[in-house]
Order: sequence, then C-alpha cells, then structure tokens
Amino acid sequence: MIPVNFGIPSTIPKGAPPVRHYLQFSDFTADEYGYLLARAAFIKAKFKTFTRHQSLLDRTLAMIFEKASTRTRVSFEAGMYQLGGSVVHLTTGDSQLGRAEPIEDSARVISRMVDLVMIRTFEQTKIERFAAHSRVPVINGLTNEFHPCQILADIFTFIEHRGPIQGKTVAWVGDGNNMANTWLQAAELLDFKVNVSTPSGYEVNEKIASNSGKTSANNYQTYSNPLEACRGADLVTTDVWTSMGYEAENEVRKQAFSAWRVSAEMMAVAQPNALFMHCLPAHRGEEVDADVIDGPQSVVWDEAENRMHVQKALMEYLLLGRLS
Ligand code: CP
Ligand code: NVA
Repeated sequence: MIPVNFGIPSTIPKGAPPVRHYLQFSDFTADEYGYLLARAAFIKAKFKTFTRHQSLLDRTLAMIFEKASTRTRVSFEAGMYQLGGSVVHLTTGDSQLGRAEPIEDSARVISRMVDLVMIRTFEQTKIERFAAHSRVPVINGLTNEFHPCQILADIFTFIEHRGPIQGKTVAWVGDGNNMANTWLQAAELLDFKVNVSTPSGYEVNEKIASNSGKTSANNYQTYSNPLEACRGADLVTTDVWTSMGYEAENEVRKQAFSAWRVSAEMMAVAQPNALFMHCLPAHRGEEVDADVIDGPQSVVWDEAENRMHVQKALMEYLLLGRLS
C-alpha cells in the first residue's frame, strides 16, 4: 500500500530557537566576538597539530557566488570539510539564480536542504532578502557594502601579532568601500579607532558604515592626506582601487587614487611596530608598493589563512552556539 503520511514534519518544530545570520559585523556583540576569536584560536591550534575537530559532522554548507573568489571559496570549503561537513558550490551562471528565479524562492528551496548558506553578491539588500526567507543561518561572504568575515580574520590576525585591538589605531588608505565600512562597524563595537583617507568623491558612506547611523569621533577620523592618516597608526591597511562590480570605473579610479598607494614613507610615520594588511587580491604598484606588501611589516598571508580558522568558529557558532 502507498503510505499517505511519512510522519516527517514539513515545518520547523515549534519552539526552535530563532535562526541567527551573519550579514554584517554589527550582527554580533562585543561579547560574542570575544568568544568567537578565542574559539578560532582553539580551532586553529587543533588544525596546526593535525588534531581532528569535527563539530559539524554531516552538516552541509551551500556557497553561492555571484562574484569571483579565491580565498573565500577555499577557506569556507576547506574549513567545512575539516569540520566534518560538506559543501555545495553554486554560481549565478550554473544555477537558476542566473535565470531570474526570485531570491526568496531560491532561499526557501536551498535552506530546506542544507544547514548553512554563504553568499557573495552585489547589493546588501539581496543577501537580506535571502536571509529573510531562509530557514538556516546565512553568512555574508562579501557584498558591495560589507565584508565581515574578512574583518573578523583581520582582527584575529592583529590580536595574534600584537595583542588586544581595543584602543589601537587602524589607518585605512583608499576606497570608502565594503572593507572600509566594515572596519568602521568593528571599531565602534570593539572600541578602536580608524583613520580614513579616501580620494574626494570616494568617501565612506557613514550611514552604511555606522552601527547606529552616526559614526563617533572616538572611532573615526577622516584625513585628506593619506600620510597623515598613517601617522602613529598601529595597523595600516588598504584594498583594491576598483572593487568587483565597479570595473567600468577602472580608468577614472586609477587617476583619482594615484596618491593613495601605501608606501614605505607611509609605513615610516606609523608606529615602529605597525602591521600592514590587505584583504587580497592585491595590485603591487597600484594601492600598495611591493616593498610594503612583501616587506617585514606585512602579515597578508596570515590574514588569508586566518579566514579559514575564524570562519570555522563562525559556522560552528551559528549552528551549535557556545561550546566552551
Ligand atoms: N579577500 C577575499 O575575500 O578574497 P577572495 O575575493 O579571493 O575571496
Ligand atoms: N573591496 C574588494 C574586496 C575583494 C576581496 C571587492 O569588493 O572587490
């Protein structure tokens, strides 16, 4: 006889805790970051000693890429396998996302089959719409507005090398883009300062960058001269002049940004033990000189590796909560 009811619930059980998403840096509290960063250090130590750590056995992560990636893909994919789970990789071109299936429908379907979703896309509103219709946590793997996983890795890297970031000064040299916005959100939450220098017309949008809609002078100061932004900084950081999605502006940006190249002269006015970071990919001779990114103050390779460790802690936290 054909059964009429398999006894499998078709909806989320009543009383299930609300799903948490990680769509921007301000989605977590300072206390949660304290836990996550410590957990990432624990998970990294296990990785370095070849100790198995499979807290997400049999869980599945869907990764949706609407823009190119090297680090984000490898770090999420390797990280999920190391945690005992598996991944599904989708792009606009090889899924129905590229054939105008509504985001809401994609979210409803994908989130019935996997435990976590990571999305790299264009407007922040797209990831918000997906999250609003997802049964499972959604992680921002970069949008036009934010790149929270990268800043999480950068802060972890700073702490590894120099101790607490609270009270320290970060110099941002370049575009008022997704990375700059996320640094500012982090500064407000974790109590450090960001000196920002952008060319005219490429300033940070404070409404996006601030958690409260208004950036605080304690955490944010603008400089027209990039050298002055670097003076006394504990960390100097930059990013490409042209982010993904803005390629049509490339030639105009090359003109506008020519003085916003991190140089040895800029590093020399920062603290003597200042670090240099870049989320990568980098263009030597554009936003940074080769002697800086390949020099002794640069920690860009640690930064890239740490993406994986912090994201393993993040995925674990979103699915299992605090474990230690
Ligand atoms: N930093 C970063 O997100 O790199 P990818 O674009 O290679 O993922
Ligand atoms: N701001 C850059 C970061 C790349 C990781 C971009 O959005 O293309």
